[in-house]
Amino acid sequence: MNNTTPPRGLLDEALQCHLIGMDPDVAQALRETLCAIAQACVRISDAASLGMLADADADADALAGRSHVQGESHKRLDQIADDLMAASLAGCRHVAAWASEEHEQPHVSHAHGAQGAHLVVFDPLDGSSNIEANISIGTIFSVLPHRYRGMAPGAADFMQPGHQQLAAGYVLYGPATLMVLTCRRGVLVFGLDRRGAAPQWVLACDDVRIAEHTREFAINASNQRFWEKPIQRYVAECVAGDSGPRMKDFNMRWVASMVAEVHRIMTRGGVFLYPRDTREPRRPDRLRLLAEAAPMALLVEQAGGRATNGTSDLLDLVPDTLHQRVPVILGSKDEVDRIVSYHADPSENVSWQLFKTRSLFVQPQA
Ligand code: F6P
Ligand code: MN
Repeated sequence: MNNTTPPRGLLDEALQCHLIGMDPDVAQALRETLCAIAQACVRISDAASLGMLADADADADALAGRSHVQGESHKRLDQIADDLMAASLAGCRHVAAWASEEHEQPHVSHAHGAQGAHLVVFDPLDGSSNIEANISIGTIFSVLPHRYRGMAPGAADFMQPGHQQLAAGYVLYGPATLMVLTCRRGVLVFGLDRRGAAPQWVLACDDVRIAEHTREFAINASNQRFWEKPIQRYVAECVAGDSGPRMKDFNMRWVASMVAEVHRIMTRGGVFLYPRDTREPRRPDRLRLLAEAAPMALLVEQAGGRATNGTSDLLDLVPDTLHQRVPVILGSKDEVDRIVSYHADPSENVSWQLFKTRSLFVQPQA
């Protein structure tokens, strides 16, 4: 990541500069939607930073017979994050509907369902199994066009391939809260500055580039015996290091929080894999196409990396269902190219070749 760029302004004005040349109405709508998302993430960051104290406050209030802030503190943090994002999107005039990882069906905006220009998909709190351990978590979001303006959108309107995204990003709640964003014009990073009276998103970098070469990979190695052959081969070669065919040593990392994992790759390169596996035949894939894979793929590609399911670019996949899951391999281009070539090698895995993006497994239920 190029960190030499000095900060240049707050979110709204930085986006105004960034979107120059775009139709002014289209740019303004996108800015307003992104600001609504960013505003929700400030509040999610507040909630996340309270951690166990939120429960302690709620317990104290319950004992004292007081109702707690918004009556929300007994909810799990991922539900709170979901509510905060929904409330913010409901107030944005350009958002026609949104779909959250937490809900089976999309939610149509009461006020703007027909006229809004955007559909928003989000994972309110990615990596939420890490909350109790106080390890970094994040929010992932994607902005799609509402193609049939004048009609309230339904689930079918969200079935768009990732390359249709107008914008995508994530917010990482780590030691610092950061928002990494693309409007298809490269990748920007904003930091949440809490030093003033009100927290503000400040531009920290306007040209993130992922290192093309890397010696670092991230995968949940406990699933190794369930992987398909191309992944077995890739990881075995990395682990063999200096004495294997790659003739160099690799490092491995696994946070179990995709946002943290992708941010590390943005910062110093690397490759992230959550491949298909045979652990649960009814659920061969882990990550959601619309809420996780597609937005991360757009960010990675905009930063010069590559994102694939092994045989197809993630951005080309058209979802069948709102919660469809896919294999995800993304990061430094050279390594992803190599993994794709292993999938294309007929000696590696005949079944994979035959079925390409179609699975031998039963497709998971939505
Ligand atoms: O949302 C899914 C997720 O939490 C990702 O953030 C993360 O990469 C993955 O699941 C971790 O999976 P596992 O628990 O199998 O390591
Ligand atoms: Mn997630």
